[in-house]
Order: sequence, then structure tokens, then C-alpha cells
Amino acid sequence: MGKKFLIAGNWKMYKNAAESRAFIQELGQTFKAQAGLEVVVFPPFTALAGLRNQDAKIKIGAQNMFYEEKGAFTGEISPVMLQELVDYVLIGHSERREIFKESDADVSKKVRAALQFKLSPVLCVGETLQEREAGKTMAKIKNQLEKAAQGLENYEMSKIVVAYEPIWAIGTGRNATPAQAQEVHHFIKGTWQQMAPGRNLQILYGGSVKPENSLELLAQEDISGVLVGGASLKVEQFSAIIHNCAELLKK
Ligand code: PGA
Repeated sequence: MGKKFLIAGNWKMYKNAAESRAFIQELGQTFKAQAGLEVVVFPPFTALAGLRNQDAKIKIGAQNMFYEEKGAFTGEISPVMLQELVDYVLIGHSERREIFKESDADVSKKVRAALQFKLSPVLCVGETLQEREAGKTMAKIKNQLEKAAQGLENYEMSKIVVAYEPIWAIGTGRNATPAQAQEVHHFIKGTWQQMAPGRNLQILYGGSVKPENSLELLAQEDISGVLVGGASLKVEQFSAIIHNCAELLKK
């Protein structure tokens, strides 16, 4: 098949440091390292330092960061601080954009800062239900991608992972159908090709991913991973999704 998968768990504002460590330990026992399969979890900031080198199979990411290196920015975390703790960083999750009013300009600066400090940005994009119903899904996604990647060099574009997360599917139990997701993923792939000719892109689907729907989603041609919220908080559920992915790789 030749596809490379990334199974990502976004823990949001759940789990303290001890719970996070226990989770990683337990999760690590449920699967083996395998070519083509990468697993990453995004715990809260307070758990990150305690998770260093806990299990080589499980990469760690941060859920957000500020774009400045240092300075008088009370309450913020810089890419330099994260650099020694994580490999990945989520940028522009819809909850950051909606609740914390992050703009496309903020997202663009964060993507740039992540790349500068050798963190892999997982750039989140997605439409609201209203936008979908008005037929504006593709326009919204294209705009988000173009703004986020504005001014980047072609080679930098290959270091970005994109997560397509329709906002109406996040935490609602209502996932996009595999066909709906595939349609948008295909569009993202094409848009990226125009922006960065010759650069491949890993595109994750997120929004109510569960063990039961993960296989069919991952089997879609342009879906190369999932970003899981609720179902990543329970070891059994998250490892079931990892197992589904491992099965797919055997085919
Ligand atoms: P969900 O969240 O799986 O709980 O819908 C996904 C996300 O917000 O990344």
C-alpha cells in the first residue's frame, strides 16, 4: 500500500501529569512498533516534562504554543521551551480559533515559528455546519491553508501535517462519512500540490473518530491518519484505533 499513517490523540484539557504517565505506560503495552505507523499524543502542557523518553513508540506533542521565542508574554509557552519536550505541535485547532479567538494571522505565525524550531506543526482546518450547508466548505479550507502557509518555502511545506476537522463533527458523535472526508482530503491534497509542487502531504481526519468508524476512514485513499479527541482518552479505545490501522497496513 505504501501509505504512512499517523494516529494522533488530542487530550484537550484532560489528564494531570500522573494520569498522563500511566496512560503512556499502559498504551505502550498494547501495540508494537511497525513501519508506516506513527503514534502521537497531545497531553496538556503540565504533563509534557514528565513524559520525556517514556516510550520510544509514542511521540509527544503540544496542543498549542505562542509564536515568540521569549519575552513579556505572561501565561504563554514558546517553541524554544517545547523544543526539548515534544516533536509535534497542534496549530489552529478549531477550539483555539473559536474560544480563544486565534486568527489566521496568528496561525500563520505559529506555523512559521514551529518550523523554525524544528517542531512538526499539525495544522488544523475545517468548516462549520453553516459553511458546509452554504456550499462554502472548499473555499473555507483553501483560504485557511493559503493563509497558514503564506510565505513558506517549498521545502518547509513538506514538514507540515494537515488535520481536516469539520467543526460540526468535533465532540458531537457525528463524524463526516468516509466519502465526505475523502472528498475534502482530495481537495486539500490538490490545493497543497498547487502551493508546493512535488511535496507530499500527510492529511489526518478528525471529528468523532472512534474504533468503530476508524477503519473505514483510514482506508480512504487520501486519509493518512486520524486526530482523535474523546476516544483518545481511554487506552482501550485509542489502542483499538491503532490496531485497526496496523491491520490496514498488513493488506
Ligand atoms: P473528537 O475531537 O474526536 O472528540 O470529536 C477531535 C478533536 O477535537 O481533535
